[in-house]
Amino acid sequence: MKYFYVTTPIYYVNDKPHVGHAYSTVIADCAARFKRLSGYKVFFQTGTDEHGLKIEKEADARGIAPKELADSMHIKFKELFSDLNISYDRFIRTTDADHVQTVRTAFEKLLKNGDIYLSEYEGWYCTPCETFLTEKSLSEGGKCPQCGRPASKVKEESYFLKLDKYEKKLLDFIENNSGFIKPEFRKNEVLSFVKEGLKNLSISRTSFKWGIPVPGDDNHVIYVWFDALLNYLTGLGHETYLEGRNPDFERFLESTNHIVGKDILKFHAVYWPIMLFALGLRPPKTILAHGWWLMDGAKMSKSLGNVIDPKVIVEKFGADALRYFLLSEITIGLDGDFNTGSFTVRYNSGLANDLGNLVSRTAAMLRKYADGKIPGKNAGEDAAVLNEALVLLNGLGERYDRYDFAKILEDIFRFINILNKYINDSAPWKLNINEPEDRSNLFKILKTAAVSIYYISYFIYPFMPETSGKINNMLNIKPFDLPGFSLDPGDAADYCEKLFKNGFSIAEKSEILFPRIKFE
Ligand code: MSP
Repeated sequence: MKYFYVTTPIYYVNDKPHVGHAYSTVIADCAARFKRLSGYKVFFQTGTDEHGLKIEKEADARGIAPKELADSMHIKFKELFSDLNISYDRFIRTTDADHVQTVRTAFEKLLKNGDIYLSEYEGWYCTPCETFLTEKSLSEGGKCPQCGRPASKVKEESYFLKLDKYEKKLLDFIENNSGFIKPEFRKNEVLSFVKEGLKNLSISRTSFKWGIPVPGDDNHVIYVWFDALLNYLTGLGHETYLEGRNPDFERFLESTNHIVGKDILKFHAVYWPIMLFALGLRPPKTILAHGWWLMDGAKMSKSLGNVIDPKVIVEKFGADALRYFLLSEITIGLDGDFNTGSFTVRYNSGLANDLGNLVSRTAAMLRKYADGKIPGKNAGEDAAVLNEALVLLNGLGERYDRYDFAKILEDIFRFINILNKYINDSAPWKLNINEPEDRSNLFKILKTAAVSIYYISYFIYPFMPETSGKINNMLNIKPFDLPGFSLDPGDAADYCEKLFKNGFSIAEKSEILFPRIKFE
C-alpha cells in the first residue's frame, strides 16, 4: 500500500477566510483526490490555529473570550471547505484535547532531553505575523519586514528551543533531499537563511494567557508556532504511536506533503524539521511553497482590506469555477493577480465554451443519431484523437508530484480543443445515417467523442470533482469518488476499453455544466 499525507496550514481564526486561504486548501484537495484515485491510502488534514496573542487581541477587541471567537470563526472555514468540496479527513483545531496533549508531550520530551531550556528573551515581536524579529531585520520606523506593521519590544523570561545544535544536520538534509522544498528556487532562500546561522528560538511567552500552558510552569504559555506545527503530528495519532498502537504513523509521516504559502516557508522548512529531529522523527517529504494572490499588486490580506470572499464566488459561479481559476491561472510557486477580467475569460471561454459545449453537444449527438446509446465494439475509434489522451495519462503521476497543476490543466484543455476541432472538422451532422459508410463514420465519431469525454472526466476529477461527477452522470457511469474505487493512470486505458466495449445508454437528460456569465 502506498501512503500520502497532505496538509494545509492551519488558519488563524482572527477573521473569516479569504481567497488566499481557499487557495492553499484547494491545492491540497486536488493532490489528495488524485492520490486517492491512484489507489494511495490518503490522509488529508486541514484546520484552525486558535491560540496566541493575535487571537487574544482580536477577541478582546470584540469583547468576547478567545475560545468563543475560535468556536464561531472555525465554522466559517468548515463552511467554506464544504462549499468548495474539500475532501479532508480531519479538520483539526489546536484547542482539541488530543492536540493539547501532543504539544505537552513534545514540550516535556524536549525539556527532558535538553533541547529546551529556560532563559530570557529580549527583542522584537510582530503580533500579526506571530514572529520574533531581530533589531537588525526591522524596516524603517521599527516595522516588521514581512507585513510592514509596527513590531513591539519584548523582554521576558522564556523557554528556548535549541536550533544551533541541529543547524548542520538540517543543512545536510536539505542538500541531500531533492524535492524537500518545492519549487526548487525556494530551496536556495532557505539554505541561505540557515547558513547565516540559526539563533535559538523563543518558544514561550509570559505576557498573555491564551495558549497551552508550559507543563509544570503555568506562568508561560507555549509559543503559537511551536503549538501549531505540532498539529501535523496530532493528526497522525502521535499519542497512539508513542503507545505503540499506530503502525501507519511512520508510513504517513515519511510521505508527508505540507502545502504552505511562501510567507510561512521558514517555519516549515527550518523550525519544523528541527523540532522533528529533536523528537527523533524524520522531516516531511515535501514542503510546497505557493505564491500569493494579489489585488492590484499587493498581497490580498485582511489588514489591507483588499480581500475577495471566496464564498461569494462559489455562490455565483460554483465551486469548480473557483477551483479551476485558482489552479489554472498561476503556476504554483508564483504570485498571481485575482482580477475579474481573467476570471471571466477563463470561465466563459474555458469552462462554458470549450468544456461545457463539448459535453452538451456530444450528449445531443448521441441522443439524436444513436438513440442515446454509445456505440459498442462494432464501432471504430479514432486512434489519433484517443492517442492524445494516452499521452496525457503518461507521466501524470510525476507531474502531480511536481504540483504542475496549471500545466496539467493546460494540457487537458488542449485535449478538449482537439476534440472540439475533431467534431467540427468531421461534421457528423452532414453524414447520411442511411449510407453504410457514412453510418460507420458517424458511429466512429460518436464513440470517439464519448470515450474522450470519459477521459476528460477522469482528468478533471481532482480539479473539478463536481463537474466530473456530472459528466459521469450524463454518461451513466459511476463517479470517481465512489468509496473503494481507484483507477491509476497506468490502468485507465485498459479500464476504459472494457467499459466501452459493449456500449451503453447515456442518461436521458443532462444539465448545462457552465452557463455563460456576464461579470460585473
Ligand atoms: N496559522 C498560520 C499557519 C500555521 S501552519 C502550522 C498562518 N495562518 S494564516 O491564516 O495567516 O495563513 C494561512 C495560509 O494562507 C498561509 O499559507 C498563507 O500563505 C496563505 N495566504 C494568506 N494570504 C494569502 C494570499 N493573499 N495569497 C495566497 N495565500 C495566502 O499563517
